[in-house]
Amino acid sequence: MQRLVIIYGDGSHNTELIARALDEGARSAGADTVLKNVNDASLDDLRGADAIAIGSPNYHNLMMPTVRKFLESMAGMELSGKAGLAFGSYGWGKEAVNTIHEMLASYGLSMADDLLIKRTPGKAELEECRRRGAQILGCV
Ligand SMILES: Cc1cc2nc3c(=O)[nH]c(=O)nc-3n(C[C@H](O)[C@H](O)[C@H](O)COP(=O)(O)O)c2cc1C
Repeated sequence: MQRLVIIYGDGSHNTELIARALDEGARSAGADTVLKNVNDASLDDLRGADAIAIGSPNYHNLMMPTVRKFLESMAGMELSGKAGLAFGSYGWGKEAVNTIHEMLASYGLSMADDLLIKRTPGKAELEECRRRGAQILGCV
């Protein structure tokens, strides 16, 4: 069984809604998943991952410091060949997700298209997130 690990930070739960929909989509496609708020996550959670999705909202043109710290702690892990996805909610700028994408790509992950949702995801957007959760493991 393939494994998707989803780690996210959030302030007002919009990015958490995206993360949960990714998780639902991947599990409905038969994947094993790990879903963690970054505050509860450790590098151990990444072991055995075929795909890794990291999410953050955009605050002050930046990702959340907790997410950046987690990403920085991933440096030095053997991650090449895994699929990667950067995702998050934003208001008007895409810097957080762009930087997550760049960092994961620099670790050798094979990156899917970014998943960006403006503010709170609606019903159709959550369905798209579920579809992307099911699809990401097809990129491995
Ligand atoms: C204090 C504050 C700063 C923000 N700064 C930005 C920003 O620089 N760029 C942007 O696109 N959105 C910005 N936003 C909007 C948030 O990214 C948006 O509300 C997002 O949905 C929050 O996601 P979350 O619920 O996962 O925390 C800001 C929101 C707040 C409250």
